[in-house]
Amino acid sequence: MYYSDEVIEEVRSRNDIVDVISSYVKLQRRGSSYFGLCPFHNEKSPSFSVSPGKQMYYCFGCGAGGNVLTFVMEYENYTFPEALKLLADRAGVTLPEQEYSEEARRQRDLKTAVREVNRMAANYFYYMLRSEQGVRAMQYLKDRGLSDETMKRFGLGYAGQYSDALYRYLKQKGVTDQLLKESGLMQFSEKHGISDKFWNRVMFPIMDVNNKVIGFGGRVMGDGKPKYLNSPETVIFDKGRNLYGLNYARTSKARCMLVCEGYMDVIAMHQAGFTNAVASLGTALTTQHASLLKRYTDEVILTYDSDEAGVRAALRAIPIFREAGISTRVLHMEPHKDPDEFIKALGREAFQERIDQAENSFLFELTVLQKSYDMKDPDGKTRFFQAVAAKIAEFELEIERENYIEAVTGRFQISFEGLRRMVTNVLMQGAPVRKAPVRQQANSQAKEDGILRSQRLILTWLTEYPGLFETIAAYIHPEDFSDELYREAAAMLYDQLRGGAVNPAQITSHFTDPEQQRTIAQLFNAEVKTENPKELEKAVRETVYKVVEHGIAQKSQRHDPTDLQGLQELIDAKRRLQDLKRLHISL
Ligand code: CTP
Ligand code: MN
Repeated sequence: MYYSDEVIEEVRSRNDIVDVISSYVKLQRRGSSYFGLCPFHNEKSPSFSVSPGKQMYYCFGCGAGGNVLTFVMEYENYTFPEALKLLADRAGVTLPEQEYSEEARRQRDLKTAVREVNRMAANYFYYMLRSEQGVRAMQYLKDRGLSDETMKRFGLGYAGQYSDALYRYLKQKGVTDQLLKESGLMQFSEKHGISDKFWNRVMFPIMDVNNKVIGFGGRVMGDGKPKYLNSPETVIFDKGRNLYGLNYARTSKARCMLVCEGYMDVIAMHQAGFTNAVASLGTALTTQHASLLKRYTDEVILTYDSDEAGVRAALRAIPIFREAGISTRVLHMEPHKDPDEFIKALGREAFQERIDQAENSFLFELTVLQKSYDMKDPDGKTRFFQAVAAKIAEFELEIERENYIEAVTGRFQISFEGLRRMVTNVLMQGAPVRKAPVRQQANSQAKEDGILRSQRLILTWLTEYPGLFETIAAYIHPEDFSDELYREAAAMLYDQLRGGAVNPAQITSHFTDPEQQRTIAQLFNAEVKTENPKELEKAVRETVYKVVEHGIAQKSQRHDPTDLQGLQELIDAKRRLQDLKRLHISL
């Protein structure tokens, strides 16, 4: 969906950020800003700031930040158009109607209709569970330890005793056969015609992150087969992209997510207070699931079943999460089968203990690996440790290898030196290196961070002291910033400064991706720890010098030796750099 910058700015500027955020977070004025407890991470003292001047927020604790649109996107987990809609409604702005192509409109209407049918079905099942017909189903759920409140929260239902009850109900509501087909709620056969897919089962509605029902799981009450039936994929139900329970888990304040296998596991964990639990829906974990979770967390604890299938699922999931930049730990469920049974048997405190003790995924992989070696046999043991050494050798950084060698010696019977020698041997034979996509060389990374921070300081000061613009612009141009996003933001800020009206919040909403908005917020909220004007002036001078110096270094690195004019420019730039040391700054 596309909205013009003017429309976006209209909506943004009519929603004062302090007003909007105050309705979610308790804010207190401190100087020119407001402060409160950050809603995006757990904290005891407020590091979440809202600036009425910049119309932006920024958390000095976790780095969350952006303008009012970012806030709504992050807090409500809305997409950009959804956040825009909410704020437009709030301020009484009418958004222009989107121009749809014929096909796009058809598709959108179909989705709306299928969603509506799912909603009606969910209502029907919900009602049936609480009716005369649902007595046995209700008893079944109660026997499984679910409270009324939990059943309500998860919208649990019952599909009725007859195989055409839902069909008749929906027909009577005017739903066409064509739409019933699209909804995945019916079965069509030459012989029997149309019948309900689900009957005489307890029903688990599956909700998307916006709490809209997109499909169902239905369980037999007892030992019948199949144990679960699930809605097929439809225009609104993509199993690879949805996680059961995420609609609640996404607002949990926990640092990590608990990923399990089943409906009942999610529900049992939520009921016990672990509201950060989700499950993939009767399918193996996909890369889309992982990147969906990455929006909310960097750490997952796998709470899969303790049986062989669960272990296999965990071994499959670990690298998928690793690729997505999520680190994984594995919870040990023994002697119980799954989270539902564990919590019922041992209670929530015991489960919390298991969460705290969850095992690093690498050690988990080794523990599993060990089972395929005969550890009582000296040769078997040697081969196992050779395999371990080979795996450790895959880590790129020495510090990682050392840490893992230490962890392994704490767990398995081998000495630190012994294992280290084995790892060194593997490395000397030229083992393949595990290049984790998220890792970077620590050294150059730190340097890069340093220069980026200087560049952020420049942009922040420009918004806070527009009077510096002339001086700074004489030395630093938007294209001198290292990062594409920085360059774009700088170019827009320079335009605004030339026009005389600084508006960092507007620059923020030029970017619709929350990740980018967060970076922009960081750009305009760099901090230097001094209030003293003289010190601040010195800091500005030094920072300008650093940024310019870095720019020259970059240019000379890229410089083509046959380009004489370029060379001259570099020499000039270096000479001017000396002047910078005496640059007069006045705030
Ligand atoms: N599943 C499925 N179809 C089946 C069996 C299982 O779709 N025939 C999916 C369901 O999402 C189920 C999950 O796999 O929740 C885990 O299955 P299982 O461990 O067998 O069931 P539990 O979740 O433990 O369910 P219960 O406690 O009700 O036995
Ligand atoms: Mn179970």
